[in-house]
Amino acid sequence: MNKKNSRREFVKTTAIAGLGLSAFGTMGASGILQSCKSIGKTSSGPLQVGLSQQALPYDFAALEPVIDSMTMEIHYGKHAAAYAKNYKEAYEAEVKETQNTLQILSTVSVYSSKMRNNCGGHYNHELFWKCMQPASENNQPSAKMTKLLTEAFGTMEAFKTEFENAAKTRFGSGWAWLVLDEQKKLKIGSTPNQDNPLMDVSAFKGTPLLGLDVWEHAYYLKYQNKRPEYVSGFWKIVNWGFVEKLHDSYTAK
Ligand SMILES: [Fe+2]
Repeated sequence: MNKKNSRREFVKTTAIAGLGLSAFGTMGASGILQSCKSIGKTSSGPLQVGLSQQALPYDFAALEPVIDSMTMEIHYGKHAAAYAKNYKEAYEAEVKETQNTLQILSTVSVYSSKMRNNCGGHYNHELFWKCMQPASENNQPSAKMTKLLTEAFGTMEAFKTEFENAAKTRFGSGWAWLVLDEQKKLKIGSTPNQDNPLMDVSAFKGTPLLGLDVWEHAYYLKYQNKRPEYVSGFWKIVNWGFVEKLHDSYTAK
């Protein structure tokens, strides 16, 4: 095994061991070990975003009929793969000392537009895949999550309407979000392009619990210009269990 492959295998093994590492640069094994403690403190709980894509937790066809198989294959295999590749390139070119993905997002204004677009794109998609699960007509959040959403937005219908409006009215390409703000309150908003609410440059700030990709590449093959139909279908595939785990990890004392 050459040096490069050896390092890659170490990184893979370490990540699988669940040490909560979020990103690695061009450092050796000792650098990785040294950084474990500091990176672990900013671990994002159930969501670990490193420098490469994690495997999809379901088949390309699993989200049909809401999202068709070909869209998922191209979206995950081409678009999101490119964000991961370009994020890694930007990381290796620009990051001088070890930073995890959350640290880069929170200081993204000091980096290039390549970093902003691709670190954002990679984080957003890694979250997005986990926010979804195979379709169910009766897909609902737990009683606890329903209570939290109802307290924040009045009713579940009001929550869904506000989220759908954020997704439908985001001009051009972007994302709709359910986030926790600094006071741990649930908020809804949207961001353009591959920005997200963790970025220091974002006008809408928070910690994402649920994200919906409203770039045309996410829905155009099936829905063409009918973004609202894609958005309203999203509720059938939301992985509320994952959203709740994220919520719990960010609100734990
Ligand atoms: Fe996308």
